[in-house]
Amino acid sequence: MSTETPTNAALFERAQRVIPGGVNSPVRAFKAVGGTPRFIARAQGPYIFDAEGTRYIDYIGSWGPMILGHGDPAVLDAVQKAALDGFSFGAPTEREIELAEEILKLVPSMDQVRLVSSGTEAAMSAIRLARGATGRNKIVKFEGCYHGHADALLVKAGSGLATFGNPTSAGVPAEVVQHTLVLEYNHLTQLEEAFKLHGAELACVMIEPIAGNMNFVRASAPFMKRLRELCTQHGALLVFDEVMTGFRVALGGAQSLFAKLIPGFEPDMSVFGKVIGGGMPLAAFGAKRAVMAQLAPLGPVYQAGTLSGNPVATACGLATLKQIQKPGFFEALSASTRQLVDGLTAAAREAGVPFVGDCEGGMFGFFFTNALPQNYATVMATDKERFNCFFHGMLDRGVYLAPALYEAGFVSAAHSADDLAATLAAARQAFRAL
Ligand SMILES: Cc1ncc(COP(=O)(O)O)c(C=O)c1O
Repeated sequence: MSTETPTNAALFERAQRVIPGGVNSPVRAFKAVGGTPRFIARAQGPYIFDAEGTRYIDYIGSWGPMILGHGDPAVLDAVQKAALDGFSFGAPTEREIELAEEILKLVPSMDQVRLVSSGTEAAMSAIRLARGATGRNKIVKFEGCYHGHADALLVKAGSGLATFGNPTSAGVPAEVVQHTLVLEYNHLTQLEEAFKLHGAELACVMIEPIAGNMNFVRASAPFMKRLRELCTQHGALLVFDEVMTGFRVALGGAQSLFAKLIPGFEPDMSVFGKVIGGGMPLAAFGAKRAVMAQLAPLGPVYQAGTLSGNPVATACGLATLKQIQKPGFFEALSASTRQLVDGLTAAAREAGVPFVGDCEGGMFGFFFTNALPQNYATVMATDKERFNCFFHGMLDRGVYLAPALYEAGFVSAAHSADDLAATLAAARQAFRAL
């Protein structure tokens, strides 16, 4: 190894020789915005530092998990202690029970959870369980929602409500997605029609309650209320994918927010990831006891994992969940995020740039357009050129935003008033330069 500091460009070149596209997850390659991805050497608090030693204020936070910022001392301590006791046993541990108890305490819609290692695995397993529990095959998802890369979920809408989906990835056989119906987010009449046509065949409807994979789009309360009614009426399970929103938009996740808007509201099944692992590979899915009893070893639905409930990951997740329950945590996080979004909006207005933003808890989104989009098509119709210029303008000024206009952003408890002020100062310049 050379003793010279490698540049990001040199690392990217080297990476591309041995890793497809130079990255282990596509969005990291900066393909949407162009330019050279930053190779991260280390992180501390709200900052990440690239291989060249440049510091950035981090609004990705590993795409959501780092709600406390990087290197929180209590979390580090828990992880170090756990690592000393062993990395993996492939046998049950008390800490798995503690983490499950902690999650269930905060999410009353579930009686039990199963711990897994990634959001993809959790969503995939939730669908298998929904199919096994209902004895039905068909599922509904919404355009623009991402639930990981299981075959059945890599699908775009077919040519009408009578036809099911088409694969969005090579390598996914058409037969595998023939049971997945893709609907438009927030489209009530289409939802009604879909249930009229297929309600009796539906195992589940999976939804991101606030969609973070088309930047930041809320499901409207009337849409969610009707979705809940239709699922109940037709015996389909309503599955909330809270991999991103869970313990991030509120302590009880997005479902706690919908429960405030819709009396008695609960999803039938929920999927979590990101924050519950605090940056380690950990995810979960859960439901009421009768549904979870269908899972192996109790029931006929198979699901397993060598590293599931990993002792170091559960220590990290548990320490993270403890911190975010401290009094005032979410109030402070929400206030910082709101301050950021309001500040960006004001700075854009000063520069005469069409811009809207929204946020909830520690998650935010913004668009270069005049009104908040309600679905995938309107998100993708926003000004991509302006987004890309703004992204690079901010990156050049030391602010690391998500490198694609369809991704959400994240604020952590470590972002101080000074960090937010520095971000807004950079934004004022970047907006003026557009
Ligand atoms: C809502 C949602 N579900 C599922 C996933 C997949 O999680 P993972 O990347 O851990 O497989 C993601 C990832 O970003 C997500 O945002």
